[in-house]
Amino acid sequence: MYSVPISRDADEAEFRAVARRCLASGLGPQVLTFADPDQPSLLPRPLPREDIAPFTVPRNFAALLTDAICHRAPDRFALLYDALWRITHYKSHGERELATRAADPVIAKLADYAHQVRRDIHKMHAFLRFRECKEDDKHDGKSRFTAWFEPQHFILKRAVPFFVERFPSMDWLIATPIGTAIFQDGALTYGPPAQKPPEGDDRVLDELWLTYYRTTFNPARVRVKAMTSEMPKHYWRNMPETALIPDMVAQASVRVAGMDDADDGAAPLFAQRIAERRATVVAIPRAPIAALRAEASACQRCALHTAATQTVFGEGPENARIVFVGEQPGDQEDLAGKPFVGPAGEMFNRALAEAAIDRGIVYVTNAVKHFKYEPRGKRRIHQRPNAGEVRACKWWLDRELTTIEPELIVALGATAAQSLAGRSVSVLRERGPADFAGRSGFISIHPSFLLRLPDAAAKKKEYENFVADLHRIRVLMETKRVA
Ligand code: URA
Repeated sequence: MYSVPISRDADEAEFRAVARRCLASGLGPQVLTFADPDQPSLLPRPLPREDIAPFTVPRNFAALLTDAICHRAPDRFALLYDALWRITHYKSHGERELATRAADPVIAKLADYAHQVRRDIHKMHAFLRFRECKEDDKHDGKSRFTAWFEPQHFILKRAVPFFVERFPSMDWLIATPIGTAIFQDGALTYGPPAQKPPEGDDRVLDELWLTYYRTTFNPARVRVKAMTSEMPKHYWRNMPETALIPDMVAQASVRVAGMDDADDGAAPLFAQRIAERRATVVAIPRAPIAALRAEASACQRCALHTAATQTVFGEGPENARIVFVGEQPGDQEDLAGKPFVGPAGEMFNRALAEAAIDRGIVYVTNAVKHFKYEPRGKRRIHQRPNAGEVRACKWWLDRELTTIEPELIVALGATAAQSLAGRSVSVLRERGPADFAGRSGFISIHPSFLLRLPDAAAKKKEYENFVADLHRIRVLMETKRVA
């Protein structure tokens, strides 16, 4: 084991420098502990190597690092290093996409830390209140403002640029238990932690201000002439801007709080559902499809289960004569836990109704039972499942078909057709009746194909062709019944 010295409130730059040396020395996370440099340690400390080139990490991990490093939890260093090690070293190529794996326990914890940090920054922006210094010792007659704030995490340097941008022409000081920021004559400096001022005693902050002011005052920076020509000194005390500053601060804060509430940085809905799913223990029911559905809810046959909200199993009566098979659930299906309930589902329902097929008597499922997507901000962009994922999920499709024993299986689109036929299928060439490993099948288009067509005339024509397919299927089934 090695002990790596790192400050309790290390910022990103310090962590990167420490991590760089550990990575270059080939020290895996299992042999490291991170400790305050002031704490005596009996463990050997890794050799300092200052000359090491910076490492590069994928952008999504860099963003996670920037936020999570500010969290108070002491285990953030070990978690970040664990992830960094896997990104840069795992099986020599590294798990470059690790940060996108929301269900990875380390990433999940770091994402939670990052979220809390962002909330804390929002809170500081929203709720910090400046008050005007009462001391008369004004710098060139200019008012000064102080504020006390108690953040939960080490966010001072992350939060302060907001105030610099908002109040560039004010002199102000923000005191916190994790450090002090002072903005004077357009220059920002940081100082040590401050003591909480007693309730109602403003003099403490005033004195703090004066201490800073006296020690940091740089006469060379004050360009009185330029300032007075822009804004005659005589007016400074009563300038509306300066008189309004505290109000403006308060209002800006309320607006920021409003924006914060509208988009509170909360994890998207699906993240919460994923967490709930992981915490659920499923009892296996007796009815065959219900039992399969319950069993599939814990499916880990491929990696798609990690980022999806839940398994979206097939739905419909167990004695259905027709089974429709789509590709995979989309965003809305993933949230609802039901197949074909989103835009493609609406299109499908409309076409079924036009072909006089009652959706209530058919069974509807997908070749792949978990939503595959790429996160883009809070949006999830559909990704086509690959052959391995389709193969892994065929296990469930086969079991659904064996239980239901439908008279006809309709493949909606190429993914379903390939899964059922066990080979590559061209929908346009093979559209119509098909053989699916000895079972009666029918190949048609996927309803989402219609949603993607930009040309209205083509869309109308393709929709009519789709309805015609469904019509043919209904007639086929009716003929069978008669026979
Ligand atoms: N597309 C599919 O293939 N299945 C669904 O359930 C929804 C959209």
